[in-house]
Amino acid sequence: MAEPDTLRYTRFALNHGQSALPALGFGTLIPDPVATRNATKAALEAGFRALDTAERYGTEKEVGEAMDEVFKEGRIKREDVFVITKLWNTNHRPDRVKPAFETSLKKLKLDYLDLYLIHTPFAFRAGDEQDPRDADGNVIYDRDVTLLDTWGAMEELVKEGKCTAIGLSDVGLEKVKEIVGAATIKPAVVHVESHPYLPEWELLEYCRANGIVLQAFAPLGHNSEPNLLEDAVITGIAQRVGKTPAQVVLAWAIQRGTALLTTSKNADRIRANFDVSTLPDEAVREISEGIKSRVRFNSVVNTGVPGFIPRAK
Ligand SMILES: NC(=O)c1ccc[n+]([C@@H]2O[C@H](COP(=O)([O-])OP(=O)(O)OC[C@H]3O[C@@H](n4cnc5c(N)ncnc54)[C@H](OP(=O)(O)O)[C@@H]3O)[C@@H](O)[C@H]2O)c1
Repeated sequence: MAEPDTLRYTRFALNHGQSALPALGFGTLIPDPVATRNATKAALEAGFRALDTAERYGTEKEVGEAMDEVFKEGRIKREDVFVITKLWNTNHRPDRVKPAFETSLKKLKLDYLDLYLIHTPFAFRAGDEQDPRDADGNVIYDRDVTLLDTWGAMEELVKEGKCTAIGLSDVGLEKVKEIVGAATIKPAVVHVESHPYLPEWELLEYCRANGIVLQAFAPLGHNSEPNLLEDAVITGIAQRVGKTPAQVVLAWAIQRGTALLTTSKNADRIRANFDVSTLPDEAVREISEGIKSRVRFNSVVNTGVPGFIPRAK
């Protein structure tokens, strides 16, 4: 009898904190609060064991409520779920890191976090306004704090024991190298946009060589144009292996060694996105080598302004 396919249960051991990140993760960048709560519950019920949120998404409260409900039902325990949230750009000053972390933890109804990420390497003016702008509409950056200053405060959270692992998000290779070179606790995870149109091979290679897990967001191309799920290479493989284009792209991401975060408001798609199976090696190669288009859907990496989040009023 054939062995059951275990790709969906893949986990990547992290370089600190003795934990392992489930490769298939569910993201909660969903504007509507009710949809966020329902989708989070549906994701846990479908089998997802990594959840991603952020202070900036405004979804921590709903994710916390959904987890609380599911945990109270008793079938899934807190320690079964790997929870990720992120420090926003307005909280980069070291004295603001711990209060921001504690606020997130409280909203999530948790007493420890599995992974805390610096959401972007850009510090904005410190304060409660998440999207500070000058009279001309330009972002007001904070030039008096460096990423390394913020990283030092993140390391303190790990030392205090309430945060198992820390990492970086929306960074390029140079910033990752800078932090790896200076850190006491190296980043466990680097979280960036990545899919067949933006494979980030060089960053992945560096992460691999340095024991860091690369976690890909927008693995399906964020439902944007050009539509990755309509790419002829992807649809051809999907037809051949009897899977959907989304399942093909998600399997490719795991098989090439990245974790990922996918999102849907639709319970059927959530279940389908968890139902991935191993692709033949030649299909993985065909995607890696045969797709030449290069598209970045989210420009957050250039400015710190989140591309997929509606601008604050
Ligand atoms: N650090 C950052 O700056 C950053 C930026 C962006 C995202 N993220 C994180 O990464 C997560 C995932 O990002 P993403 O939303 O761009 O991921 P994605 O999975 O590439 O795209 C999600 C979009 O694809 C659609 N979709 C989902 N499953 C589908 C399927 N099987 N077939 C066709 N369409 C499908 C969804 O629509 P429906 O809801 O209608 O299904 C949704 O519009 C976010 O939730 C967030 O946690 C981080």
